[in-house]
Amino acid sequence: MSKTRVLIIFGTRPEAIKMAPLLKEFQKYPEHFETFVCATGQHRQMLDQVLSIFDIKPDFDMNIMLPNQDLYDIFTKVLLKIRDVYKTVKPDLVFVQGDTSTSTASALAAFFEKIPVAHIEAGLRTNNRYSPWPEEINRQIIARLVTYHFAPTNWAKENLFKENINENQIIVTGNTVIDALRMILKRINESNELSNSIIDQITDNGYDIRRLSDNRRLILITGHRRENFGSGFENICKAIKASAENFPGFDFLYPVHYNPNVRESVYRILGKSINKNIFLIDPLDYLPFIYLMQKCYILLSDSGGIQEEASDLGKPVLVMRNVTERPEALQAGTTELVGTDKDKIISSISRLILDKNHYVNMTKKQNPYGDGKASVRIVKYFLDKE
Ligand code: UD1
Ligand code: UDP
Repeated sequence: MSKTRVLIIFGTRPEAIKMAPLLKEFQKYPEHFETFVCATGQHRQMLDQVLSIFDIKPDFDMNIMLPNQDLYDIFTKVLLKIRDVYKTVKPDLVFVQGDTSTSTASALAAFFEKIPVAHIEAGLRTNNRYSPWPEEINRQIIARLVTYHFAPTNWAKENLFKENINENQIIVTGNTVIDALRMILKRINESNELSNSIIDQITDNGYDIRRLSDNRRLILITGHRRENFGSGFENICKAIKASAENFPGFDFLYPVHYNPNVRESVYRILGKSINKNIFLIDPLDYLPFIYLMQKCYILLSDSGGIQEEASDLGKPVLVMRNVTERPEALQAGTTELVGTDKDKIISSISRLILDKNHYVNMTKKQNPYGDGKASVRIVKYFLDKE
């Protein structure tokens, strides 16, 4: 029996995190699958740390990242370069994840080559074409191109079903981000040495976690969405500044995404801040970030992956977006949409800090995104097909 040639493609930090457990699972069956990895390098430093943490050595690295490049640059570079990868590997099956330019261009090129594509995290929708932008349309395009739709939840499955995708091509598995999270938590919790080195790493990054105590708490912040560039980020920063003044017993820690459009607003408004409880640092590696998520009191973020991880950790997330493709956490009550309105963000932070019942309700561990076995289900699906 010939082995199935599987090519796993990713380029950004969250894609790598969400693909790592799948790759590890495929590698458990070398007699069935020959597994190849292609990193587009859409992200560089943020991608490399994930490769190192999960000990992944890509077979191909397109290294496409340039400072502040636009959507045309990324898409066309990936589209052209993946052609040679497909021609060299001749994969039987290609995996893409999520809704990035890397995944959309790779899925389109696979369609040109008539190679079947499997989509991880299929079926998320806002049905608002500009929010998130360009991700909402990216994922709708990908759905038209692929053969296997691995949906994280039943809601995601329903979305695909409504778009006339054949039910037997949609497989509900949970989200592989929970597989990654549980792998990392196990590592952190089993080794004091690792925990200590993570604490040192966070300190070296510019934040002394030993400041935290029962009376001093952490609000962890991230933000990167293109639709929030400009006035959105300005409002967010002003809200952080005002909240830090209102609550001096809280540290506001913001690992700032490398995107220059994000950094410009954040450092201009908060960089020279007189508030001694606002900390701007570079993006953290995945291990220290998860460590801090466990320790924090509240998350303020526009990230998709963080909403999913937070629901597994029982941490409340104030989501700085107006619409969501992740309504499950909203329904479970662990996230709240606060948009980018300054006053709304300030009042939502205040309420979570001052209203204990509200806080407790938002911290109930209810994880609609998976049980840590999504990758096992995906690989089993292909083993069973043989
Ligand atoms: C991308 C994805 C978005 C995903 C996000 C995760 C697209 C269109 N966007 O957005 O869906 O949610 O990643 O973070 O695919 N940069 C660095 N070093 C890095 C990473 C980025 O310097 O390691 C800087 C570069 O100047 C780069 C810029 O950030 O050009 C923007 O990166 P890009 O991949 O275009 O967009 P993201 O906002 O990261
Ligand atoms: N993350 C990280 N370091 C940070 C911020 C986030 O490792 O400083 C991780 C986080 O745990 C999650 C992922 O990056 O798994 C989310 O990435 P991002 O917010 O950039 O993208 P999105 O999920 O919105 O596509």
